[in-house]
Amino acid sequence: MSFTPPPYPHDRLREVRSLPGEHGLELLDLSIGTPVDPLPEKFRQLSFDLANGYPTSIGSNRLRSAAIGWMSRRLGVELSLEEVAACVGSKEFVASTPWYLHLRQPERDVVLYPEVSYPTYAMGAILSGLKYFPVAIEDGKLQIESVPKDLLERTLLVWTNSPSNPTGEIYSIENVLQVAKAYDFVVVSDECYVEYTWSSPRCSALSEGTDRLLAVHSLSKRSNFAGGRVGFYAGDRELVHYLSEVRKHAGLMIPGPFQELGARLLDDDEHVEEEAKRYRGRLERLIEIFSILGYEPKMPDGGFYLWFDSKDQADGFEIAASIAKRTGIIVSPGEFYSSSHANFVRVAAVASDYALERVLQAL
Ligand SMILES: Cc1ncc(COP(=O)(O)O)c(C=O)c1O
Repeated sequence: MSFTPPPYPHDRLREVRSLPGEHGLELLDLSIGTPVDPLPEKFRQLSFDLANGYPTSIGSNRLRSAAIGWMSRRLGVELSLEEVAACVGSKEFVASTPWYLHLRQPERDVVLYPEVSYPTYAMGAILSGLKYFPVAIEDGKLQIESVPKDLLERTLLVWTNSPSNPTGEIYSIENVLQVAKAYDFVVVSDECYVEYTWSSPRCSALSEGTDRLLAVHSLSKRSNFAGGRVGFYAGDRELVHYLSEVRKHAGLMIPGPFQELGARLLDDDEHVEEEAKRYRGRLERLIEIFSILGYEPKMPDGGFYLWFDSKDQADGFEIAASIAKRTGIIVSPGEFYSSSHANFVRVAAVASDYALERVLQAL
C-alpha cells in the first residue's frame, strides 16, 4: 500500500486567508503558534565561533548542561548529563520517536495520545506505520484506564502534553505512569509550553521520576526561537541513550552556533518572564475581542491559545471564514486537533499588542 501525505492542516486554510483582503480588512493570522516577538537585543548581537566541523547529535555538553540548569531552576528537577540529549526542535522528535521505539520493541504497535491534541502525535504514528488511538482527558487526567487491556498490552508509547495545545489544560500523569509500569510502555511528556503556566506553579512530569518517562522541551515557545530549531529530551537514562544513538545514525543535529545560542537562552529567564507577561496580556485582549463577537472564551490554565466552543453547528472552516470576514483574524478549526471538536476554534496569541488593539477599536 502506498502512502500519500494528507494536506498539511494549515495549508487547508489558504482560502480563508484570502477573505480579510476581500472584505477590506487587515489579515491577522493567529492560526499557527509561531512567535512574533524578536529575540531580545542581547541575544541578537552575539558573535559565534562558526566551527565548520560536524556538531554532536546528542548536543554539546554546554547545551545539555544549560538544559539541566534550566530544569533545576524553573522546574525543580535534578538531572545528570546522561539523562539529557538534544533534538532539532521538538516536532521532528514527536514525528520520529514512535518509529525508533518500535525498532526497539517490534512487538508493540500502538501509540496513544490525548483526544484533543497537537496533530503530530497521530502523524508520528502514521509515518511509522503504527496504530494510534486518542484517549480522553477528564477530571484533570488522561483516562488511560479506559483503554482496553488488549491495546495496553500492545502499547509502545503514550504522549501527554501539559500545558496542552490547544486546550491549555494542565494535568497530572501519575495514573499514566502507573499503567505504563504495569504494561511496560514508554510515556513522553511534551512540555514545550511549561513556561506559560498561568493557574498553578510550573511543573514537569519528571518530578514523578524518570523510569520509562521522557520529557521533551523546545526553545520555540519558551524563548520565541522557533527559527533556531533547538530542543531537548530528558529523563529515563536508558531511553535517552538508545534514542541518542539511533538519532546519531540518522544524522539529526542542531547546528553548532545554534546549540551555543540555545544554551545562552536557557541560561536566561528574564526574556521569558517578559514574554510571559506579553502572552498573558494578549490572551486577555483576545478574550475581549471574542467576547464582543458573542463567544465565551476563558483564560487557559497554560499555553498561549484560546480554545473555545463556537456553539455553531457549521463546518469548522465556515466558522473560521465567518470570523475572518468579521475581524481579519484567521483561527484554526477544531478538527485540526480532534475529530469530536469540529465546532471549536483555536486562536494563538501571536499578534502584536498594536494589532490586537486595532481589531478591538474596529469592533
Ligand atoms: C504541543 C507541541 N509540541 C511540539 C511542537 C513543536 O514545536 P517545535 O518543533 O518548534 O519545537 C508544537 C508546536 O506548535 C506544539 O504545539
